[in-house]
Amino acid sequence: SQEEKSAEERMQAICDLLKETVPHYDWVGFYFRDGEKEQLKLGAYAGAPTDHTIIPFGKGICGQVAVSNQNFVVPDVSAQDNYIACSLTVKSEIVVPLFVDGKNIGQIDIDSNVPDPFTKEDERFLEFINQEVANIL
Ligand code: SME
Repeated sequence: SQEEKSAEERMQAICDLLKETVPHYDWVGFYFRDGEKEQLKLGAYAGAPTDHTIIPFGKGICGQVAVSNQNFVVPDVSAQDNYIACSLTVKSEIVVPLFVDGKNIGQIDIDSNVPDPFTKEDERFLEFINQEVANIL
């Protein structure tokens, strides 16, 4: 069709929609792995601009997920010593890796201004979102 949207535009729409529709999602973004540089790079996001557009593997919650390939739910960010603060209003965070053909290529990262809001439902929901994203990449 004439109105074919790019993957970047679709990911932006997903970020905007998630932030607007889920009350406890205050910042929503996708980071992508660069294996050679051993760092993550920010892609589409919705919410306040962040200084942390590049995150080395192992650093912060995002950097740890780049290495562990596992979901990371943080009910209270102030209890984490390996954490990168993007905004002082953020109380909690969830990061779910994005797999394409079984390979970790990035992640969805969500910050919340609410303490301890993320449940198993958020994990399953964001895994589903990431599978849908994987299908358009
Ligand atoms: N808090 C993240 C950094 C990214 S910002 O949340 C957008 C972390 O600790 O990795």
